[in-house]
Formats: sequence, structure tokens, C-alpha cells
Amino acid sequence: MTDKTAKLTLPSGDTLELPVYTPTLGKEVLDVTQLVKNGVFTYDPGFMSTASCESKITYIDGEKGTLLYRGYAIDELASNSDFMEVAYLLLHGELPNEEETKDFLAEINNHTMLHEQLAQFFKGFRRDAHPMAVMVGVVGALSAFYHDSLDITNPEHRRKSAFRLIAKVPTIAAMCYRYSMGFPFIYPRNEMSYAENFLNQMFAMPSEDKRPDPVLVRAMDRIFTLHADHEQNCSTSTVRLAGSSGANPFACIASGIASLWGPAHGGANEACLRMLNEIGDVSRIPEFIERAKDKNDPFRLMGFGHRVYKNFDPRAKVMRESAHEVLEAMGCQDDPIFKVAMELERIALEDEYFVSKKLYPNVDFYSGIILQAIGIPTNMFTVIFALARTVGWVAQWAEMISEPNQKIGRPRQLYNGSTERAFVPMDKR
Ligand code: SDX
Repeated sequence: MTDKTAKLTLPSGDTLELPVYTPTLGKEVLDVTQLVKNGVFTYDPGFMSTASCESKITYIDGEKGTLLYRGYAIDELASNSDFMEVAYLLLHGELPNEEETKDFLAEINNHTMLHEQLAQFFKGFRRDAHPMAVMVGVVGALSAFYHDSLDITNPEHRRKSAFRLIAKVPTIAAMCYRYSMGFPFIYPRNEMSYAENFLNQMFAMPSEDKRPDPVLVRAMDRIFTLHADHEQNCSTSTVRLAGSSGANPFACIASGIASLWGPAHGGANEACLRMLNEIGDVSRIPEFIERAKDKNDPFRLMGFGHRVYKNFDPRAKVMRESAHEVLEAMGCQDDPIFKVAMELERIALEDEYFVSKKLYPNVDFYSGIILQAIGIPTNMFTVIFALARTVGWVAQWAEMISEPNQKIGRPRQLYNGSTERAFVPMDKR
């Protein structure tokens, strides 16, 4: 893989030659695996400078604002493809032809329903439980039902689990909402597309025959595509680490859902809309901008900033266009929240603090506005994110588990605790 090396002089004075690997895109990496044998660790809290794995799935360039799924630019996919094609692409590495698409959709349709007993699980939750708590519980519980696909060393089991997860998460997500509202669960329909099926399971009523609005279906499908994968983000790294121990894929995806829930990660879309509603009017924006800049105030501008993108998040750009389309289609282009969002974006992009810290709107900034316009309740926003990201998590898990020299992930530490000391009996403390 390389004949390039980087020289490192250790504290002991020894010099090491670290192999340097050149990627097809992005930064070169130094292979530090030999360091432990030479008595030192690297130290990188938050993994700001660490490549945790090799991957061929998604590439992002934070400076250029680039996002590629298997080499295809996100804006091209969002405009010309659809979520099921993107799912196939992320899983298999190529866009599917007509035959492959037909077979893929047929297999997905085979697995959209849940074991009837799983519906009982919902009854154990309070109606006002946060839907992400229910998602973590029910997705994790899938491993209690599908014993015929838990052997991760068996490629057929891995394939079946992948289809089960991708096909069932929309059903589970919709059931979370229906249960919270006291509505009956709606079964998936095989004649509907993936996004249409999800919206139908969310909002259909047994008492009437009404199909989801095609404009909203298209917007939902595009939101799924934009959220499908994103390199080694926090929740994907969680799924990879959980999977490295050999845990079953249902449990690994449940760990990804738990990690995504955090407001610094996927929980930001819900937090962002709550913030926009709290701001309420453009006249109050300066007050919130000041709070976001105040080091003594833990408040952060939700939907702004990104660990990697130090330029516009390419997904936010596509999302912004979609927001206009959906609000127009819903006749709420004068939506005050949208006006607040647009004005907040304008002010923040001119403000020295945000410019100097390269804090731009990220994927979560506009998604909440679209989801609210579609009629998705705020506490379901991160569920939608988890639904879409399940495709990326499954693809990344499958890539990790198929690695020829795959091993359990086990980071070390910089220990600053007590040195060894004698036990102190109670009467001496
Ligand atoms: C997602 O990783 C991914 O790919 C994630 C994701 C995906 O698709 O998987 O893209 C999805 O998680 C998008 C991010 C959603 N989160 C938010 O919108 C929450 C608000 N954003 C911040 O919490 C923050 O920007 C992070 C967590 C997103 C990034 O944090 P970093 O890279 O660790 O940066 P940092 O916290 O060290 O901040 C750098 C500076 C700090 O100031 P100083 O200490 O240098 O003075 O910028 C400031 C921060 O205080 N800052 C903000 C801010 N974000 C960072 N100040 C105000 N408002 C903000 N939003």
C-alpha cells in the first residue's frame, strides 16, 4: 500500500519509520500500529486526527463541502436518484440496473412487516415516551425474534439481517408515532414506494382511503437520501465498535440509534426546531446569537457547526432548496419559523464569531423545517434521521465485519489516576 514513511523520534530517542498510506481521496494517514510495541500510545480525544478504519463507502471533504456516496455527489443523487437506489449503492458499491432494482425492492418488501408479538412491546412504554427511547428498545428487541439471521460469520445471515433492518425501521418508526397518538398501527403496503409506505404508516386512517401527497413523498425520500450515511460520524463509529465484538447487527444498530439521539449529533434537528420556535421572531435573533457566543452560557446555535465541514454542509444546501419547495407546496412559504431560519442563517454567516469559527448551517438546520411542514412531530425528527441512517450503519457494519483482519476495537488511555496504594481499613479512613 505504500513506500512512503514518516519519521518519528520517540521520547526514548529511538527513531521510527511510520508507513504513510495514500487514499484515493482525502488526507494521507500514518500507520501507528507499531507504537504500542515501542512503549507509547497516540492521544487523540474525540478522534479529531484519527482514521479509525479503511472504508470505500462515503467520502466527505470539510473544506470543499463535498459529500460522495461511493463516488457520487450527494446533490446529484438527491436530484436524480431515490433512497432505495442509494441504499443499494451504499450496500453494494454500484448503482443498480433495472433487474437489480426490481429484486432489491422485492426483497425489501418481503421484510417490511414486524412479528405480531413485537407490537406488544410498544404497550410496555408510556404513551408520552420519547420515540427514540422506543426505537432503541424495539430495534434491539429484533434480535430476540430473528434467530435465523444472527450468525454474523454467515454471509446469508448478514444479508438477511441487513434487509430486515432496512425494511423494518420505517414500520417501527411509524409505530412509535402511532402508539404515542393512540392511533391503530397501519400495515406496510407493497405497492407503495419506501417513503410513501412510511408516510402512509404514519398518517393513514383505516376510516378513509387517502394516499400521501406525492410532493411530500418526494421530499421525505430526499431527506432519507441526505441522511443515509456520513463517513465515521459518532453513531457510525458506535455501530462499528459494537459490531467489532461480534454482537448481532440488531443490537449494533440499536447502539447507533442511542448514540445518534444526542443533541450534539442527530438530536440537533429536534433541538434546532425547538430553538427556532423559542426564538419565534426575527427581532429576537440577536439575543440568541449573543447567547451562542457567550462562553459562560452552554447554549449553542443548534443546526450550526460541524466537526468536519468547515464550509457549507452540502446537505444543508439541498435541504434549503427542498424546504422552499415543500413550504410552497404546503402553501406556508410565509412560515414564520422558516423566515426566522433564513434570517438566522444570514446573520450568523455575517457574524465574526461564526465566520472565524467556521460555523455554517449543517444537515440539521433545515431538515426540521421540512419535517414540520410534512407534519412530522418534533420529537420524531431524530427518529427520521435514525430511519435513514440505518442504511449507512448497515453498510458500514457489513464492511467492517467483512474485513479480512477484522479485530475487536479496544482503545487505550492516558491514565492520570492514583498509583498503586495499600488498602485502608474502615477504622483508619
Ligand atoms: C450531525 O459527524 C457527523 O458527520 C455528524 C452528522 C452526520 O451526518 O452524522 O453530520 C450529523 O451531528 C450534525 C451536527 C449537529 N449538531 C448540532 O447542530 C449541534 C450544534 N453544534 C455543535 O454542538 C458543534 O458544532 C458540533 C458538535 C457539531 C461540532 O463540535 P466540534 O467539532 O467538537 O467543535 P467544538 O465543539 O470544539 O467547537 C469549536 C468552537 C468552540 O468554541 P471555542 O471553544 O473554540 O471558543 O466553536 C464553538 C465552540 O464553542 N461552537 C459553537 C457551535 N458549534 C461550535 N458555538 C455556538 N454554536 C454552535 N453551534
